Amino acid sequence: MSSYNIITLNEFISTRQANFPYAKGELTRLLHYIGLASKIVNKKVNKAGLVDILGEAGNTNVQGEDQKKLDVFADEEFIKALKASGECCGIATEEQDEIITFDEEMARDGNYVVCIDPLDGSSNIDVNVSIGTIFSIYRRKSKRGERAQLYDFLQKGTEQVAAGYVIYGSSTMLVYTTGHGVNGFTLDATIGEFCLSHPNIKTPKAGKIYSINEGNYAHFPDNVKKYIKYCQEIDKPTSRPYSSRYIGSLVADFHRNLLKGGIYIYPQTAKDRNGKLRLLYECNPIAYIAEQAGGKATDGNTRIMEVEPESIHQRIPFYTGSEDMVNKAESLN
Ligand code: AHG
Ligand code: MN
Ligand code: MN
Repeated sequence: MSSYNIITLNEFISTRQANFPYAKGELTRLLHYIGLASKIVNKKVNKAGLVDILGEAGNTNVQGEDQKKLDVFADEEFIKALKASGECCGIATEEQDEIITFDEEMARDGNYVVCIDPLDGSSNIDVNVSIGTIFSIYRRKSKRGERAQLYDFLQKGTEQVAAGYVIYGSSTMLVYTTGHGVNGFTLDATIGEFCLSHPNIKTPKAGKIYSINEGNYAHFPDNVKKYIKYCQEIDKPTSRPYSSRYIGSLVADFHRNLLKGGIYIYPQTAKDRNGKLRLLYECNPIAYIAEQAGGKATDGNTRIMEVEPESIHQRIPFYTGSEDMVNKAESLN
């Protein structure tokens, strides 16, 4: 195949934009900047084994420079990129307690806000295991030209205009949706471009992988305990048992299950009534992708994207993946 048959991310999003007669290219530009920042983060991730990036934030390296943990680096990089795009008036990020609003005139005029987990799976950085970035984009509710407001971020997942993730794995991929299916792009490092490699991703209706931190088993609710047993049982017609796979990076666990069929659960526990994962920048964007690929995402009961957010860092139990599996896990009460 000639290399000119490659469809790059930028080309793909601008072709898609042409399908919306009134689109002005704002979202295209925003996504372009997210792609750009993720390439910069990817470069750092690939160097994570080299001493100067490892270590706690605040430490000083041999050159006397301040060391930054990758999650701090990623946070700064995405903030800079989103600000530079001129289309984003504010951000809610896992790394900052409060929302960030941009004061520059161009950014204040931006039509979008972004919720982001700049580095997901940070416990895996130091051990060379896949990590990710998760993002969610909303149209602002406040007036353009003014500062972004907290209520711009506290919108239900159903209001997302786009969402996606980047997985920094054995290869780096960007997967996103704007509500017209899910498409995946693999970074070709030799040309520095994300290239369409997984068009129109559809997840299997049922799968054979379950992903959950079973170390917390004793604290799980009954339905989850029963579901784990169900996955482990041998059953003639379906030839269970299923495989247990848990990386500890939501992006990586979800990505595998999306392609192969499976379920990811981070339930409430006796100790953490709302589980661990964050609604705004982990569950909602992943839920949007799951649904767009034909899968499902709930809190064990309610559709994730219909939950009314109350605060930017709020946590929620999370069940996502193949529809039949999520239904089964929910049904065993
Ligand atoms: P983050 O690194 O952004 O804080 O997210 C970590 C999350 C998620 O990626 C992962 O699925 C989960 O935490 C793992 O938690 P446990 O170690 O409790 O299983
Ligand atoms: Mn995370
Ligand atoms: Mn994170």
